[in-house]
Amino acid sequence: MKLEGRVALVTGGGRGLGQGIVMRLAEAGADIAVVDVIEENALKVAEAVKALGRRAIALKTDVTKWDQVQAMVKQTIDQLGRLDIAVNNAGVISIKSVEDLTEEDWDFVNDVNAKGVFLCCKAEIPFMKAQNWGRIINTASIAGKEGFPDLAHYSASKFAVVGFTNALAKELKRTGITVNAICPGIIGTGMWYGPTGLAEKWKLPGETMDESWKRHQDVLIPQGVAQTPEDMGDLAVYFATADHVTGQAVNVDGGFTFH
Ligand SMILES: NC(=O)c1ccc[n+]([C@@H]2O[C@H](COP(=O)([O-])OP(=O)(O)OC[C@H]3O[C@@H](n4cnc5c(N)ncnc54)[C@H](O)[C@@H]3O)[C@@H](O)[C@H]2O)c1
Repeated sequence: MKLEGRVALVTGGGRGLGQGIVMRLAEAGADIAVVDVIEENALKVAEAVKALGRRAIALKTDVTKWDQVQAMVKQTIDQLGRLDIAVNNAGVISIKSVEDLTEEDWDFVNDVNAKGVFLCCKAEIPFMKAQNWGRIINTASIAGKEGFPDLAHYSASKFAVVGFTNALAKELKRTGITVNAICPGIIGTGMWYGPTGLAEKWKLPGETMDESWKRHQDVLIPQGVAQTPEDMGDLAVYFATADHVTGQAVNVDGGFTFH
């Protein structure tokens, strides 16, 4: 197996894209620290990893808190022996026009999505540098490539992740550590599909949420279908195994975005 003997941590691994990334890395042979602010979800996903015959731990961590992020990396190394692959995926969204947006809304989304990625990388780098090998994979978004209405604060946070990823890749260019970003398109997690998701918020008059979800896939995605958490996991496995790909932000979006 391609990742046998490797240890990965995945933030936001308790559900959604993070869960798909965890499972693909585990299927490729990696042992996993499943990290999430919701402990019970991290525990469930860690059990699913163990069922594949891999080692797994669940860590309750808020990625916006430096002391917790440091403890996350230390516990991964203490309990699983090393840290090779870090997928900094935890993220949040809210849907509001700039006029309605409060400072708290801005800070919440940017703290988790942008500052959280920074803190995780800061804690992960020293261990990877010491072993002259590491793979850092940050979850950005196609909203980190272009703006969308009612998502200016979210787009700002994801543009930050794309820029940070490229700059860090150059900073670490001769260390054996690669740094890349996944830019997911439209996936039916709570961010899109559900009472507080984009499909509900962007319904046309008289449209059901399901109709809105199908319309968005049809209109926005050239392939006409949503992407899956496992699609993101496939790209994470690729980044984890590619030696000479760094500084990239790769779209997995059914052809939605070109750049
Ligand atoms: N769903 C999509 O269509 C889509 C598209 C583009 C990008 N993304 C990005 O993918 C990532 C995962 O999103 P998702 O769709 O799976 O959403 P999700 O809400 O299903 O999962 C996010 C996970 O992150 C965890 N989390 C939230 N705040 C945290 C914190 N402070 N510390 C640790 N964990 C925290 C949540 O508990 C949850 O398990 C996010 O970065 C998101 O911005 C999602």
